[in-house]
Amino acid sequence: YEWAEVAELEPAMAAGRAVRVRGAAHAVRALSRLAFLTLRQGSSTVQCVIPAAGGMARFAGGLSRESVVDVAGVVSPPREHVRGATQQVEIQVEKLYCINRATPNLPISVDDAARSDEDVTRAKAAGEQLVHVGQDKRLDNRVIDLRTLANQAIFSIESEVEHIFRNVLRSEGFKSIHTPKLIGGSSEGGAAVFKLDYNGQPACLAQSPQLHKQMAVCGGLQRVYEVGPVFRAESSNTHRHLCEFTGLDMEMAIRESYFEVCDVVDRVFVAIFDHLNKNCAKELEAINRQFPFKPLKYLRKTPRIDYEEGIRMLKEAGVHVEPMGDLNTEAEKKLGELVNAKYDTDFYMLCRYPSAVRPFYTMPCSDDPRYSNSFDVFVRGEEIISGAQRVNEYELLKQQAEARGIDVGSIAAYLESFKNGAPPHGGFGAGLERVVMLFCGLGNIRKTSLFPRDPKRLNP
Ligand code: 4AD
Repeated sequence: YEWAEVAELEPAMAAGRAVRVRGAAHAVRALSRLAFLTLRQGSSTVQCVIPAAGGMARFAGGLSRESVVDVAGVVSPPREHVRGATQQVEIQVEKLYCINRATPNLPISVDDAARSDEDVTRAKAAGEQLVHVGQDKRLDNRVIDLRTLANQAIFSIESEVEHIFRNVLRSEGFKSIHTPKLIGGSSEGGAAVFKLDYNGQPACLAQSPQLHKQMAVCGGLQRVYEVGPVFRAESSNTHRHLCEFTGLDMEMAIRESYFEVCDVVDRVFVAIFDHLNKNCAKELEAINRQFPFKPLKYLRKTPRIDYEEGIRMLKEAGVHVEPMGDLNTEAEKKLGELVNAKYDTDFYMLCRYPSAVRPFYTMPCSDDPRYSNSFDVFVRGEEIISGAQRVNEYELLKQQAEARGIDVGSIAAYLESFKNGAPPHGGFGAGLERVVMLFCGLGNIRKTSLFPRDPKRLNP
């Protein structure tokens, strides 16, 4: 028998081949004279027909679900349609081995975890009792939960997003860097830091690669990016905040304006969305089946709307907003709807934020320092990216840090590096889990984090 993967068993190449396949016992149906075993590998399944000879069907009937089994046999065209799916091929089993036995009392079943809310509602209406697995129970048993088709697809998509992010930046001359995650102080200002003791010295987990990615550009690396962990000591439980997430960051020397950074956002994210739509249709469909969503609308050139214009649009729509304050979640959502109605896109940039609501390192506009050379990017009315031109003059940078009550001692080395010749530069940071959550219209960021860390969860 030749080792094979379930996904490669297709009729043209496989018929008559003697194969050995390893997978999970997704379902077993034992009849009097034979048994059917659905073998699952990732998001592929194959039906295995097990004859009674030598007690094999009885042995199959005793296999607990999710046990890891090897089947050896001959590939053949299917003799019947398996419930829910048209089988491409079957395996006529000659040998069956149990490699690892799963407990018969699984805390959740893959079928229950794979159920859509609609299925549960429909069943309830029909008087049927279907198990609905809530989010906490799923996450407590994540290793089983991950086996659903939707989850397999979510993490394939996440992997693709990361690859395209890297590929596009690399093709534009960006170097991949790794900045320290143990640092002396808060990199974003604010209190949301995990503090720790670093050999007797106060330290914290990096809230972002912000300071060091800037220093890398000042160190002559010109264009850098990083895909790495970001830690935020979030105190409130929301659908879009994690305590640890994966940052997609970049930083670059700029020539004339921070719009050069916006241009990169455009190229990177339009390439990501195009790639997902073109090459991940199967995965998107699998997600859509369990968690229905509308395809993302985006344009070749992403609209860039001035913050002041955004405020005007919101006011005209009767939303109360402070012109120089930050937008709250509802206002952001509403603006997303207004922009969608005007430009027919779910993806847009809001530029020139008031300086007061941006971090200390943000460059004020030269024509009006109450505003800044900064932007946020939104998908379906929720933020996925924030970016800006940075202050590259020591005095102004120190002044802005002090004005925000930041302990300048904790970022002294960063500040000092701007005395040594620092080019104009800018960059952005996106959250990988947010990108996938919002592209797929998933209502909770825990769905796109492999093992989420939120204010209450440190396990598994
Ligand atoms: O807006 P943030 O805090 O910006 C920065 O970290 C800057 N250093 C970026 C820059 O280069 N100017 O975070 C950037 C992105 C957000 O847009 C969001 O997508 C994500 O990171 N993010 C979170 N994702 C999950 N959980 C959280 N608690 C997040 N906080 C931010």
